[in-house]
Amino acid sequence: MSAPHTRVLVCCGSGGVGKTSLSAALAIKLARSGLRVAVLTIDPARRLADGLGVGALGNDAREVPLRALFGDDGGGRLDALMLDARSTFDNLVRRFAPDARAAQRVLDNRYYQFASTRLGGSHEYMAMERLLELVQSGAYDVVVLDTPPTRHALDFLRAPERMSGLMDQGVLKWLVMPAGVGGWRALEFGSEAVSSVLKALLGEGTVGEIAEFFDAFRGLGDGMRQRSLAVRALLRAPTTRFFLVSSPAAAARAEALFFLAVLREERMPFGGFLINRVAAAPPAFSRGEWSGRSPAEALALDAVDAQCAEQADLAAAHAKAVAALRAEGPAGAACWLVPEQSGELHELSALIALGAALPDAESVWGADGTGA
Ligand SMILES: Nc1ncnc2c1ncn2[C@@H]1O[C@H](COP(=O)(O)OP(=O)(O)OP(=O)(O)O)[C@@H](O)[C@H]1O
Ligand SMILES: [Mg+2]
Repeated sequence: MSAPHTRVLVCCGSGGVGKTSLSAALAIKLARSGLRVAVLTIDPARRLADGLGVGALGNDAREVPLRALFGDDGGGRLDALMLDARSTFDNLVRRFAPDARAAQRVLDNRYYQFASTRLGGSHEYMAMERLLELVQSGAYDVVVLDTPPTRHALDFLRAPERMSGLMDQGVLKWLVMPAGVGGWRALEFGSEAVSSVLKALLGEGTVGEIAEFFDAFRGLGDGMRQRSLAVRALLRAPTTRFFLVSSPAAAARAEALFFLAVLREERMPFGGFLINRVAAAPPAFSRGEWSGRSPAEALALDAVDAQCAEQADLAAAHAKAVAALRAEGPAGAACWLVPEQSGELHELSALIALGAALPDAESVWGADGTGA
């Protein structure tokens, strides 16, 4: 089972709303408040990794040099990782194979090499697996998990159930499913259709290798089923929180609400909305300061006026959008507004500014940190 003292924060939301940026900013904030934090990102922009001072991110934890970047570490520690589905899967095979030879048989199988990275669900499942590893390592107080855009994140949340369910059936049909060729439903067309898809995809010779793969893989089933059950429990633990990231845009809000319904259905704990890229009202300024200026200055003044009016309209529209989300969301739901940043987000000043608008540990889990 998962180590109960490691708390989990998951950032979900539609594409491009800022899940990765806010995950990083949250992780920095929590680490600088004295916690040991890991942030597991999905496809972070290269510049973000650079901004964190860790060079290239990979499957192994890299320590973010908080002291060098911020002058102090607040007594905490931050590790950053990027999900590498293939390495995670390989490690899992090594862990659960009865011996090194059996592990190698799976790893050398060409179908495995294809299935472990390219088939529907494998990335999602491996993200969950990696999350569990980080939690069980006991090295962290908090693990912050970034996710792919909503639709994939759903697969992500349901991956453990799928995996354990299919293991129970004793068949890894799951892995016979090419991603994007109709998802799970392709199975309903029967094995012949699936096999012809695979033939087209992999070439005639490979189908025999698939059978061999299933044979070799079957031995791993029990261990992997146990892991699936542990992830399932972890996602519903009282110290886990799902944050729904949205922009003020209507489509992003709708997706956040849709996701909220899924969380409820799955009995996964909702932590609140993070509404990102909210426009600030323009600073007030008075024309009086400018009276008696030249015609050129008066023109410039008009331009500034127009810009301020535009900014004020945008801020008003965003305030309306925020009010709408609050009204449609559950009564009393926590809601954090994260301002639009000018300039490059990977710069530390921007990540700190984002962090200032994000929740601290106490507002997520209460003063005793239990989330009760
Ligand atoms: N508050 C903000 N102000 C300005 N720019 C922002 C803000 N938040 C995010 N961005 C920018 O928006 C873009 C998308 O952000 P990010 O990659 O974090 O989104 P994402 O939800 O992880 O995207 P994806 O769904 O593709 O994984 C980036 O260029 C980022 O710098
Ligand atoms: Mg992202």
